[in-house]
Amino acid sequence: MQEVLKNQWYLAVPSTKIKANKIETLEILGEPILFFRDSQGVVQAIKDICPHRGIPLHFGRIVQDMVVCPYHGWKFDGAGVCREIPSLTSTQKLDCTKIKIKSYPIKEMYGAVWIFIGDANFDQSLTPQPPIFADLPLDAKPEICEVVEFPCHIDHAVIGLMDPAHGPYVHQSWFWRSSKSSYEKHKSFGPVDYGFRMKRHEPSKNSKAYKILGGEPTTEITFRLPGTRVEHVQVGKKSFYSLTALMPLTENRTQVVQMVFWTIPWLILAKPFIRSFGHTFLGQDLDAVTKQQVGLKFDPSLMLIADADTQAKWYYGLKKEWSDHLKDSREFKNPVPDTVLSWRS
Ligand code: FES
Ligand SMILES: [Fe+2]
Repeated sequence: MQEVLKNQWYLAVPSTKIKANKIETLEILGEPILFFRDSQGVVQAIKDICPHRGIPLHFGRIVQDMVVCPYHGWKFDGAGVCREIPSLTSTQKLDCTKIKIKSYPIKEMYGAVWIFIGDANFDQSLTPQPPIFADLPLDAKPEICEVVEFPCHIDHAVIGLMDPAHGPYVHQSWFWRSSKSSYEKHKSFGPVDYGFRMKRHEPSKNSKAYKILGGEPTTEITFRLPGTRVEHVQVGKKSFYSLTALMPLTENRTQVVQMVFWTIPWLILAKPFIRSFGHTFLGQDLDAVTKQQVGLKFDPSLMLIADADTQAKWYYGLKKEWSDHLKDSREFKNPVPDTVLSWRS
């Protein structure tokens, strides 16, 4: 089995999905997790299994910022501490606060709820952080948000989305590019913390999608573990961000969240077009990995070729270094070099 990374921040859900007094539930890395928003507006996340008899707590309800189990009414707060056991009599002295469900650290920023999946005592500053968009306030909301489930291991979703050679074949659309208009490309890359970056450059001439931004756009693409990609397009002083965050639900199901932000006021007019473009694009990737699963059932050996698959090699290298540095209790050493990659697409 290929590894999925723990001790990581993952983008779990768009903020709009977590409403006050409403329970949301999601399986993340095989752990059932319950989310709700308390009366202060803070998102809480606890394991979705009652420690008494194991019933999922999402069948219960929220009362006064507490989750009430549907079976015997035990109440748990957002930190997972049991606050009440209704069956206890006045003379029974069981301290219910000693009963605790696992709770998960949460960060809410840019309209997304990020969750830390890992050991309670792991130093969360020594792990890749959710991305920061320098010219957006932390409470900025995405202009467009889409959540899609890919029926594959996170590794195939990551390398499928970063792969530069599939564009002319998978994303053949009238508004994008045809397989006939391919060019040789040379892009500079370098390491960043827990990832790598395609350095700022002008988009290639067959990438028509950038044209709607007007002006002379430049773009920079950053990938970080565990599966976060940010494209930052700049037109003059204005920004366009596309965030793609992947999270393993189970070994063979991966959630892909795509969020788009911008500081270009008139782009609101192009919003329906950008939304449908993104939707089509992600749908084409989903279609490719779904078909790929048909072949992967037979457990074929696979290939990674230079330079088109070099970013995929870096991804595997980063993952391995992540595991190795924890095993050896040493600092993370980024294996990605400063280099130029060339391919035709
Ligand atoms: S199973 Fe939850 S209170 Fe008994
Ligand atoms: Fe793609």
